[in-house]
Amino acid sequence: MSPEEITRNREAFESCCHQYIQRNGIDALLEYLKTKTDFFEAPSSTSFHLNEPGGLCRHSLNVFETLLTLYTSLVEPRIEDGTSPFADTVSTESIAVVALFHDVCKANTYRPTERWKKDANGRWMSYPGYEVNDSFPFGHGEKSCVVIHWFLPLRQEELLAIRWHMGMFEMPDAASSTRRSYRAAMEHSPLVSLLQAADLVASNCLERTTKY
Ligand SMILES: [Fe+2]
Ligand SMILES: [Fe+2]
Repeated sequence: MSPEEITRNREAFESCCHQYIQRNGIDALLEYLKTKTDFFEAPSSTSFHLNEPGGLCRHSLNVFETLLTLYTSLVEPRIEDGTSPFADTVSTESIAVVALFHDVCKANTYRPTERWKKDANGRWMSYPGYEVNDSFPFGHGEKSCVVIHWFLPLRQEELLAIRWHMGMFEMPDAASSTRRSYRAAMEHSPLVSLLQAADLVASNCLERTTKY
């Protein structure tokens, strides 16, 4: 991603925050991300979706657009006509909060490094990559909840959506009590399933991986 694209994405991110989030603490959270973290320059992953500078911010915007589309086109009409298991609609503010900040746990954790592989002629060549160096290893969704909550108070359904956004990816190694909590969280609010779905669709259908 070019420096111009990174700047455009940062501006789009800030403008989404100001347009959709009116809660106390949003400015402090944005200031923290801009001045104390690499959130706007970091990749989205070490070697998968948007593994390039600026990937994390772009991914967060992609999840927001996907979540909003899924909700307004599919779920909200069913809540309003009474055929959804959920009776209460979800606010656009909650959608923006969970989507834009679900992966703040990744800020300050991917360190640029030199990687090596053999070229077509069997000669070793180096290429730029990332390695994980997490100074606050508190869990994935768990850490995002804590970091956001330092600045911006989160509603219960937002905490649940962010905490469980890795969904089934975390379940194979989970204890049965954890699996029960995950199921119960999805019955609490449509936001919990919607964030998982939007994250999966954005990561796998909208975002490329750079191959070296
Ligand atoms: Fe995530
Ligand atoms: Fe994500």
